[in-house]
Amino acid sequence: MDKIIINGGKKLCGQVKISGSKNSALPILFATLLTDDKCKITNVPTLADIKTTVDFLNFIGKPTTKKGSTVIAETSSKLASVAPYDLVRKMRASVLVMGPLLARLGKVDVSLPGGCAIGARPIDIHIEAFKQMGATVEIKQGYIKMSAHKGLKGCDIEFRFASVGATENVLLASVLAKGTTRIINAAKEPEIEDLADVLNKMGAKITGAGTKIITIEGVDKLNGFTHSVIPDRIETATYMIAAAITKGEVSLLNTNSKHLQAVIDKLIEAGLSVKIKDTTINVKWVKELKPVNIKTEIYPGFPTDVQAQWMALMTTIHGSCIIEETVFENRFLHVAELQRFGANLQIDGKKVYVTGVKNLSGAPVMVSDLRAGAALVLAGLFAEGKSKILRIYHLDRGYERLEKKFTKLGASIKRIK
Ligand code: UD1
Repeated sequence: MDKIIINGGKKLCGQVKISGSKNSALPILFATLLTDDKCKITNVPTLADIKTTVDFLNFIGKPTTKKGSTVIAETSSKLASVAPYDLVRKMRASVLVMGPLLARLGKVDVSLPGGCAIGARPIDIHIEAFKQMGATVEIKQGYIKMSAHKGLKGCDIEFRFASVGATENVLLASVLAKGTTRIINAAKEPEIEDLADVLNKMGAKITGAGTKIITIEGVDKLNGFTHSVIPDRIETATYMIAAAITKGEVSLLNTNSKHLQAVIDKLIEAGLSVKIKDTTINVKWVKELKPVNIKTEIYPGFPTDVQAQWMALMTTIHGSCIIEETVFENRFLHVAELQRFGANLQIDGKKVYVTGVKNLSGAPVMVSDLRAGAALVLAGLFAEGKSKILRIYHLDRGYERLEKKFTKLGASIKRIK
């Protein structure tokens, strides 16, 4: 298995180009199943999860190829209704195949999902919504079997929690349902708006994406589309924090700062200089940073996907702060690994108490999930001496050319086979 070796203590300086958003590209790729027409998606990052999804679409019957950052999904004629364990286990977002296939074929059998090891991550909100739309649901031999032979019917669906995946899945299903669907307490993340933009380009009638109530008027048929995926706000935040933790200066290109306001506000509060011009964000360390509490929340709050990276930064800053996780129930797997670098962290339920230390020392550590992996890389970039990061396949799911981008910024980082 590949490993990353980092010799820490180098200041990062220069420019880095941010890739397209993984979490936006995934549902958009699944949206291609809603039409037999050709679709073209640009600014798609090269990542393991994207490859898994392209393989998935080919298996289902949508011939799809990726060249550079462009994905072409060709015309299709017949789709399969079964998503087997071998495909679904690699990635939790595979459950997004449910909405399009249920809408188009009136049935779908999906193996129960895998993905990151952060909490139980059930899919009850997705399933409950499909039931309300008229689907019958059975769980048998590790598969969720759903059918709606008379078609899905629009209705009002109120989520008990503003789940990102469930909002996407219901959008993907309701665009072809009979009548009007309203999602109440919908997720408002930028990735939802990007998906709604794509669906509207395909001929769907969606209003309210990006707000708590989304209204979808079903149509009979959807057409092909061309779309460029929004920049990855989590990758952007990770490189901003990398500049902060190494006391460097980095210009991030191809970003959308509006999607990151909560993180930018906290970085400024900590004392970092953040300057924005069009799609470029310049981040510069100008003085000793202060510790700043964060509490993860649904968008536009502080993203749970940046919690681990924030913790890595706070471990290096003189003083104390509290990091609270409210979105996932078990998202502190990085704490024990950060402690291996010498971080002073105490977990108490949903909170971690952080006391900054002067130095971290390089250590061998193991990645438990994607964003935890990013936190370990950041700690390794700061730490004195050599760090060895194991199980980096998690990082390959979400960070395009990570070690190349960091090398270009002046880090001493290499991948070994
Ligand atoms: C998406 C993102 C992930 C991010 C998360 C929250 C993708 C591919 N992944 O994940 O990076 O961390 O949003 O911003 O876009 N829940 C239920 N029942 C459900 C669905 C969710 O209880 O049916 C719970 C989950 O266990 C979790 C919370 O809701 O505690 C958030 O989940 P959700 O918003 O659905 O996240 P994902 O779509 O899985």
